[in-house]
Amino acid sequence: MEKMHFTRMDQGTDEDFQILKQVHEHTLKELPDRLFGLLSDLGKDTAYNITRRDHCLQSATRALRDGKDEEYVVVALLHDACETLGPFNHGEVIAAILRPFISRDNYWMLAQHGLFQTYFYAAHLGLDPNARDKFRSDPAYEQTIEFCAKYDEVSFDPAYKNEPLSTFEPMVRRVLSKDWTPPGARRRGTRRLGLGLSLGGGQGDHRRQRAICDLDGGRRPLLHEEDQSPMATGG
Ligand SMILES: [Fe+2]
Ligand SMILES: [Fe+2]
Repeated sequence: MEKMHFTRMDQGTDEDFQILKQVHEHTLKELPDRLFGLLSDLGKDTAYNITRRDHCLQSATRALRDGKDEEYVVVALLHDACETLGPFNHGEVIAAILRPFISRDNYWMLAQHGLFQTYFYAAHLGLDPNARDKFRSDPAYEQTIEFCAKYDEVSFDPAYKNEPLSTFEPMVRRVLSKDWTPPGARRRGTRRLGLGLSLGGGQGDHRRQRAICDLDGGRRPLLHEEDQSPMATGG
């Protein structure tokens, strides 16, 4: 790949930023394999009845066999992929990574599933198993309860026949297929930003609902807006 030549970004040329765009497009293309690598790392477990990698496969397999749509199955597959990176908030970590590719409710479910899972074990640690109740008003509350009950908390069963990762790989690549655009850039028709980047239409799914999610216990109002920008919605 060619090199960029600036020492300060404000002195970069159109050609430099075409290269920058290529770098990010390459990173985007590699994202599925990086996530598979995180899943693979979870295969080193010895303390669980099955590894967390197999737990993820089992969650996705159950969702697939229940007829859930492809995006949901991918979310199920990756829901614990960042457990090693976020000991306190692994759901938020993977939710943030997948946010540009998935719906608002799947994003929220991913971010909150760790807390919702405590319903099944918090009492054993002297904690409140009903901490999830503070999110009752969220549109994804019931969906998240269902995910934890049907696909997450039951998926530690060594006798259950999982699909292999190869079943899910093409699904992940399809869900994560998206054109790269700079963070936060706004779409205003078709125009050039002076970066040599054309930002006009035709990318991603513009219809997805954007939400500014309340992730801290319902203290702030939950805001939603329909945003037609592929930048802001993340498609
Ligand atoms: Fe989890
Ligand atoms: Fe899990």
